Amino acid sequence: MEALGSMIGTSLPSPTKFIHMSPKCLTIRLASRDAVSHCKVPYRRQVLAKAFSGSEIVLQKARSKTWGFECRCSAQEMESYAATDNTSQSLTQRKRLAVFVSGGGSNFKAIHEAAKEGLVHGDIMVLVTDKPGCGGAEYARDNQIPVIIFPRSMSSPDAVSAAELVATLRNFEVDFLLLAGFLKLIPIELVQAFPRSILNIHPSLLPAFGGKGFYGLKVHKAVIASGARYSGPTVHFVDERYDTGRIVAQRVVPVLADDTAEQLAARVLHQEHQLYVEVVSALCEDRIVWREDGVPLICSRENPNKLY
Ligand code: GRF
Repeated sequence: MEALGSMIGTSLPSPTKFIHMSPKCLTIRLASRDAVSHCKVPYRRQVLAKAFSGSEIVLQKARSKTWGFECRCSAQEMESYAATDNTSQSLTQRKRLAVFVSGGGSNFKAIHEAAKEGLVHGDIMVLVTDKPGCGGAEYARDNQIPVIIFPRSMSSPDAVSAAELVATLRNFEVDFLLLAGFLKLIPIELVQAFPRSILNIHPSLLPAFGGKGFYGLKVHKAVIASGARYSGPTVHFVDERYDTGRIVAQRVVPVLADDTAEQLAARVLHQEHQLYVEVVSALCEDRIVWREDGVPLICSRENPNKLY
């Protein structure tokens, strides 16, 4: 670690101390004349791969609190540091989350509880809904989470427009948007404003049984009618269409011979809560990396070399 430390130390105010290295993010602490601050530097898997072979890591300024620099290090240095670091998560900034719901919000609750229990290194800052009276919105109010109504309609004149929603989410300094049963199409403004930062959960194994009109029990009815023997939730990044963004994670559940749509939905939903928490946990720890062909992969917390 000495070599990497002295390299970075030459380009940042000293003393500079490493506090975390993950596959996507290098966090260091630096003491400037004004204050001690945390410096978190995201980098991409391709760069990490080069770093592991001992070549240059190029890190760039991402936010006002993030400083950029270049350095060289060896795989051994990075690995030995990762292995001995047990303070990393607590010192990495918690992510700020917005959740979007239209219904009961059981996924929203699962994520909120996981965040409170420390399983997700982030906090839900705001709830967005098109149905102000839905169970998810009630839960948010009960838990002092601000509720924003979107989109504007005849029945919701107090709701915000797409541009206002972007501005509001920026004001909340939101890092990630999590769709959890939100039935409206996400407008292009939002997709462009938060690239690679919006997730959705869908109750079938995409790309099967997805797209406009496939929501709620309709999905499970179609799965049963097709004769498919397996179904299960998919978590995917969101693009400007329904259910077509890049898949991050899936869970398989059996479709039983005598299943009703309700029974299958309950079996899938049970897995949804675990899967979404697992993916959001990875997202908040910067453990999602992008393969060169654009497929997102999760990096195992236990073994940073294992991607799945
Ligand atoms: C879930 O089945 C999810 O996959 C889909 O909408 C449903 C939301 O359920 N997108 P809940 O409101 O989280 O209970």
